[in-house]
Amino acid sequence: MRIAFVTTELAPWIKVGGLADVSASLARALSALGHTVQILIPVTGPDCPPRSAGAVERSGSIGNSSFVWHATALSSHLEIIWIGGVGFSDRRGGPYASSTGEEWPDGVLRYGRLCEALARAWISPGNEWGPRPDLVHVHDWPTGLLLLWIRTLGIPIPSVLTIHNLAYPGLFSRESFDRLGLPPQFWQAQGGLEFYGSGSALKAGLVFADHLTTVSPSYAREILTPAFGHGLEGVLEERVNDLTGILNGIDPEIWSPVNDPHLPSHYNALDLTGKQNCRDTLIKRLHLAPSNGPLAAFIGRFTEQKGVDLLVEIAPWLIRRNWRLVLLGRGAPDIEQRVQDLPRHHPGAIQVMIEQSEPWAHLIEAGADLFLMPSRFEPCGLNQQYSQRYGTLPIVHAVGGLIDTVRDADQDADGTGFRFEPHTAESFFSACLRAERAWSDSHRWLVLVRRVMQIDCSWQARAQPYIQIYERLLAGRPDAPS
Ligand code: GLC
Repeated sequence: MRIAFVTTELAPWIKVGGLADVSASLARALSALGHTVQILIPVTGPDCPPRSAGAVERSGSIGNSSFVWHATALSSHLEIIWIGGVGFSDRRGGPYASSTGEEWPDGVLRYGRLCEALARAWISPGNEWGPRPDLVHVHDWPTGLLLLWIRTLGIPIPSVLTIHNLAYPGLFSRESFDRLGLPPQFWQAQGGLEFYGSGSALKAGLVFADHLTTVSPSYAREILTPAFGHGLEGVLEERVNDLTGILNGIDPEIWSPVNDPHLPSHYNALDLTGKQNCRDTLIKRLHLAPSNGPLAAFIGRFTEQKGVDLLVEIAPWLIRRNWRLVLLGRGAPDIEQRVQDLPRHHPGAIQVMIEQSEPWAHLIEAGADLFLMPSRFEPCGLNQQYSQRYGTLPIVHAVGGLIDTVRDADQDADGTGFRFEPHTAESFFSACLRAERAWSDSHRWLVLVRRVMQIDCSWQARAQPYIQIYERLLAGRPDAPS
């Protein structure tokens, strides 16, 4: 199959959150399974394609639009089409916000224009960058309007939309809708993209995709309820027969303690001496005071979703028990501020780094004993899976993909971490105490560490359901061979 994969994040070049890792690793896995994947991604800023992405093999413009593209090949079956143009190359910053963190005010307009240009490029069976794809697979709100355009223009390409996070609806005004030249009949709640008085680019995708997926089976169930549906649960309920939860995999070549270039020493499930060395190095580099308690880590976006407030609340309780904490990430300025106050109150016991850094993320996953994920909701979550691979036991709120990837070691003979609910500081803390007890029992701990390191969370084991959905959609096409 020829698959067009349209996304706004792609590790290691453009990364805000887990979407970047999944776009890169899933596209690679699909191509490794023998399919041809063309990743189409807009780039904000003048560096298009990113300098480190490899040699430009071809370039051109997209139809009559102002958008231009450059192609770099990652392998014979995997190509990236980097897209620049008005609203992208003339800015500085990331896909959704400027380099100082302000959201682009014309967020939906710029993606809406790009979506129209892409759809028009596929009207004819081929164009400068190759034959029309058999199928288009898009991700989250920035790509939702593409599916509306494909439908409006009657282009015979089946489509899949993956929901990575329903909390970002891609809202826009009626005025923007008119400026995008979208057919007026779509400004309606039923069968259109109107959403409580605004337009929602994500809703356009939910309505017009041929199939919907989300990134874990538990989240697929949760988003049908008001507590997790962000007001879109009714729209999703109507599409429940076309909605599949598929657990995210990870790229075992990038996340492997056996040969990770970011680690001072390597290790595997049988020989864990390298992990101890990573821990010592981490403590030294973070200038943490020696302690006989566990070292726990948090890596992620400092947003409401991630439940950092619970962590801030229990941090003093953990420090009193000689825990050491490290937090890495960036996000909302008010949450960053609260997090930055922690080391001031607990010098030598807590270290905070307000940045996004792959080298630090790898060293922390390897060096920590425990990984904390008190997320309010979590579509899938990747860090708990990275931590397991590095022999670091996750403590998670029992929600979304965290349910599907972590079994509680005190309840399940095959436990792979610790879970808590409800979402309160007390229950989070009591899970931490249970984890501390397990950690203090070196024999029990070794069994747990070895077990989690052997979980197969690769896409090789998990990409198959996507292929089945693609095949089903292609078989249902009017011009499919009988
Ligand atoms: C979003 C979700 C996260 C998921 C990631 C990749 O960042 O918040 O749970 O793992 O997308 O699908």
